[in-house]
Amino acid sequence: MKIGILTSGGDCPGLNAVIRAIVRKCDQLGFEAIGIKQGWQGIMEEAYVSMNLNSVAGIINRGGTILGTSRFSPFQIEKGEEKLKHKIAKEQFDAIIMIGGEGSMHIAQQAHQIGINVVGVPKTIDNDINGTDYTFGFDTAVGIATEAIDRLHTTAESHHRVMILEVMGRHAGWIALYSGIAGGADVVVIPEKETKINEIVKVIKNRYERGKLFSIIVVAEGATFVEEELSELKKKSGIKDKLDDFGRVRLGGISHLLAEELEDRTGFDTRATILGYIQRGGVPSAFDRVLGTRFGVYSVEMVKEKKFGRMCAIRSNKIIDIPITEAISKLKTVDLEIYKVAEVFFK
Ligand code: F6P
Repeated sequence: MKIGILTSGGDCPGLNAVIRAIVRKCDQLGFEAIGIKQGWQGIMEEAYVSMNLNSVAGIINRGGTILGTSRFSPFQIEKGEEKLKHKIAKEQFDAIIMIGGEGSMHIAQQAHQIGINVVGVPKTIDNDINGTDYTFGFDTAVGIATEAIDRLHTTAESHHRVMILEVMGRHAGWIALYSGIAGGADVVVIPEKETKINEIVKVIKNRYERGKLFSIIVVAEGATFVEEELSELKKKSGIKDKLDDFGRVRLGGISHLLAEELEDRTGFDTRATILGYIQRGGVPSAFDRVLGTRFGVYSVEMVKEKKFGRMCAIRSNKIIDIPITEAISKLKTVDLEIYKVAEVFFK
């Protein structure tokens, strides 16, 4: 079998572990592995690279993706569907293994519907793909965000400041919640739960009254405050909604608005830090390397068994596969039972 491998969407730690595992499993089964550069765009441009044991040597610990990635969708260009089918037939791919997040899974499903043999591997630091307990990249991002909270603690304590850390996650608060619990945050603000700014003010003041002259607030980039307050904040800042290449709203910056507002309402020195792409870069954690490797090996088995239009997933530590339609049917947002655990510490 001839298998094309592509990475699509934002990069994340663990992608190279998946690519390595796919190539090694193909080698074991006698399949041909072809790397496709820059996501779906690589098929359009016929940007292919033959993969063998040497091309994936020494990459399990490397961040990013050796194949490159993009947020390109063949279905958004003129005659894209026709072109895609033609290119796949021309190269005689028997299957495509697509490693991507929620946006990319929609493309994989569209490709499947026009008869392309696609298998999906879920990736994202956001951990928001439905049907899988975890995506690789998440554990690394949580580790980085937790370290950032630890570092902010020392400055917060020394200067008696309120420190806000803004983390990624789009419309899901997983990174904020996990790093907030691990880093001992005093409040965690997530998109799944509307928060009143005055609730945060109350926690900061309570802490002050019992002698804690600093506070750590973790805020997810997609956090929502009670509508009126948020729109007021946005109006003040002049922030406009920009779109990414998938047409989704680009997030980031809410922490600066919140910092101003908290400083006004509490009178305490407040600073915001946006962790940004630091969360997505660099060395993957051991957990993400193992998960990526398990997904990679399993995805080749899926191709062998012709399980197309499906995505591998992990549930209760077992690797399984589910229809891509299930994965894209909704976002996997935060389990509010876990949020309740974090809330115990908002005092
Ligand atoms: O989906 C991963 C992610 O890192 C989100 O957490 C973030 O909102 C988004 O991608 C940023 O993507 P980019 O700036 O690369 O378009």
